[in-house]
Amino acid sequence: MISKTGDKAVLKAIEAKGFRIPIVGLGTWALRGRECARLTEQAIHIGYRHIDTAQMYDNEREVGEGVRASGLRSEVMVTTKVQPTLLAPHDLERSVKESLSRLRLDAIDLLLIHWPNPRVPLTETLGAMAKMKREGYTRQIGVSNFTVALLEEANTVSQEPLVCNQVECHPFLNQDKVIAACRKRGMAVVAYSPIARGGANGDKVLEKIGKVHGKTAAQVCLRWLIQQGIVVIPRTSRVERLEENFALFDFELSDGEMREIAGLARRGGRIVDWTWSPRWD
Ligand SMILES: NC(=O)c1ccc[n+]([C@@H]2O[C@H](COP(=O)([O-])OP(=O)(O)OC[C@H]3O[C@@H](n4cnc5c(N)ncnc54)[C@H](OP(=O)(O)O)[C@@H]3O)[C@@H](O)[C@H]2O)c1
Repeated sequence: MISKTGDKAVLKAIEAKGFRIPIVGLGTWALRGRECARLTEQAIHIGYRHIDTAQMYDNEREVGEGVRASGLRSEVMVTTKVQPTLLAPHDLERSVKESLSRLRLDAIDLLLIHWPNPRVPLTETLGAMAKMKREGYTRQIGVSNFTVALLEEANTVSQEPLVCNQVECHPFLNQDKVIAACRKRGMAVVAYSPIARGGANGDKVLEKIGKVHGKTAAQVCLRWLIQQGIVVIPRTSRVERLEENFALFDFELSDGEMREIAGLARRGGRIVDWTWSPRWD
C-alpha cells in the first residue's frame, strides 16, 4: 500500500525481516484509565494500526481494552516492552505473561527490551525473549534504546530475528549512526518522541515549511521521518490531534526541505536521558 503522492511516496508500513510494521502508530506513555482506552479505540477508527505501550506505562490493561473495543484486533499491531529491572530470564518470562493477561489479547505482536541493563547478560535476556516468541506469547521481538555496539552484540547472540530498535528520533537530534546500524542489520527504526514532546510546534523552519504545504509543524516533523522510512509513534491526549498526526500521506517534502529539516539537529537535542541510559553514540 503506497500513499498517493509522487516521487517521495511513502509506504504505509515498513517490512523488517518479513514482519510488517505500520509506519504511523499511537504512543501511549502517560495516557491512563478511561482516556487511554478511548483514545486507543478512536485512533484505530481513524486508521492507526499500531499501538505502543510498555510495562512501565501502567496502561496495558486500558490499551488492550481499546484494541478489543475497536473490533479490529486482527488488523492492529500492539507493542509492549519489558522494563529494564525485569530482564533476568525468570523475571522476564513472568512479566511477559502478566503483560499478556493485562492486555487480554491473543498474543503480543511485538515485544521489546525497553532499555538495556548491563547487569543482566544480553544473551540471557534474548534467550528468554526468543522463548516467549517460540511459546506464542509474542509474534516478534526487538529492542529499544540500543546503541550501535549493543545492536551488534544483540544481533550476534539472538536466536530469533530482531525486527526493530525503538529510539528517540526527531529533527533536533542527529541519530544517523544508530539508523545506519539498524539498516545494516535489516531492522526497522521506530522513532519515539517523534515530535520532540510537542517541541516541533513553534520551530520556525518547520512552521515555514508547513505553510507551503498547508500543514502544521508537527505534521512536517512526522512526514520528515516517515519519508525516510522511519516508523513514528506520536502520542496525544486530544482527539483532533489523533487525526492531525495521521494526516501525513497527502503531501511530500522536497529534497531541499528534507535537508533543511536535517539541519535542525543540535547538541543537547536529546530529550529522554536517564541515569540508566547506555553511552549514546
Ligand atoms: N522506548 C522508550 O524508551 C520510549 C521513550 C519515550 C517515549 N516512547 C514512546 O513514544 C511515544 C511518543 O513519544 P512521547 O510521548 O515522548 O512524545 P511525542 O509523541 O513526541 O510528543 C507528545 C507531546 O506532544 C503533544 N502533541 C501531540 N501531537 C501534537 C501536535 N500535532 N501538535 C502539537 N503538539 C502535539 C502532546 O500533547 P497533547 O496530549 O496535549 O496533544 C504531548 O505533550 C510515547 O508515548 C511512548 O509510547 C518510548
